[in-house]
Amino acid sequence: MDAHLLDGFGRRIDYLRMSVTDRCDFRCVYCMAEDMTFLPRQQVLGLEELYRLAALFVANGVKKIRLTGGEPLVRKGIVGLCERIAALPGLRELVMTSNGSQLTRLAGPLAEAGVKRLNISLDTLRPERFRAITRTGDLAQVLAGIDAAREAGFARIKLNCVVMRGRNDDEVLDLIDYAVTRGLDISFIEEMPLGEVGRSRGESFFSSDQVRELIATRHSLLDSAEQSGGPARYARIGEYPDSRIGFISPHSHNFCATCNRVRLTVEGRLLLCLGHEHAIDLRALLRRHPESDQPLLDAIHAGLARKPLRHEFSLDGDVQVLRFMNASGG
Ligand code: GTP
Ligand code: 5AD
Ligand code: SF4
Repeated sequence: MDAHLLDGFGRRIDYLRMSVTDRCDFRCVYCMAEDMTFLPRQQVLGLEELYRLAALFVANGVKKIRLTGGEPLVRKGIVGLCERIAALPGLRELVMTSNGSQLTRLAGPLAEAGVKRLNISLDTLRPERFRAITRTGDLAQVLAGIDAAREAGFARIKLNCVVMRGRNDDEVLDLIDYAVTRGLDISFIEEMPLGEVGRSRGESFFSSDQVRELIATRHSLLDSAEQSGGPARYARIGEYPDSRIGFISPHSHNFCATCNRVRLTVEGRLLLCLGHEHAIDLRALLRRHPESDQPLLDAIHAGLARKPLRHEFSLDGDVQVLRFMNASGG
């Protein structure tokens, strides 16, 4: 049987989320504090090191790699890295999550490099709100980036919307319209409490069930059993069969039982679960053993045996995971 990775609960790990940078040109309020410091260059894996790890995971049964950040497209050399990873034998799909800011320039080259699907963050269609949520972003630039991505020939494009009560919950229907009239998928996400962002996540919590109720005032939602290999549950709207409406509900509908993924930070830490601090330092091994992958593989297997069963996110009290989302790979 082909090589594969199993965790201590028998879950098959075939999805690797690789963060290629912790940097970003935006400062989204759910992801970062206003004043962030980023990793110094020597702590960050080089492109060759990222490729070596991707190749090792694929050789051991990973079928899907998602490149994330920070914003993956601010990493120099990203298109060349995509091209090399996409060509790894055995990889089913290379996909990416982006904030959309660089897509007018890079959507075409990325599609050509072999990136199959793109998820793009879009929380609002109102320019001032967009600026308030991202702190530095320009909505027009991102909408132009989405148009460029539609032209570029990706198999699918999905919008990601983190719904926050009092900030953008009144735009659910507008965002649905924007997505379905363009044949795009859209996922609504419950905010997760990673890093101290200077406000209570509980106060702005807006559940996926509340999002569904809003959608039901205008459309009939038909639940669907389809999967994208990620945490979303999907539905469709009858009149727009080309679009999927996803719900990512870490608080209200835990999806950990079927977890198939691990994350690699750009410092080379293998995060076993988004909701825990557990990690394995692969960078030290990578640099100590330039010729042999066996010590890395042994460490990965030993780490997977300790992968937690589930996250224990709570919206009350202190933040349990101090790492910010941009350092966690989204
Ligand atoms: P698809 O391949 O399209 O299914 O993408 P995805 O949902 O796996 O990836 P994306 O980067 O678009 O992430 C969407 C949201 O899901 C983000 O808020 C992620 O943090 C969240 N997410 C992805 N994987 C996990 C996970 O293992 N645990 C938790 N709690 N959230 C996750
Ligand atoms: N909770 C939920 N989703 C988040 N994202 C960033 N920070 C958070 C958070 N705290 C989402 C972004 C991006 C994806 C990688 O993760 O919207 O689309
Ligand atoms: Fe940047 Fe994405 Fe974090 Fe926003 S959510 S600050 S776009 S890494």
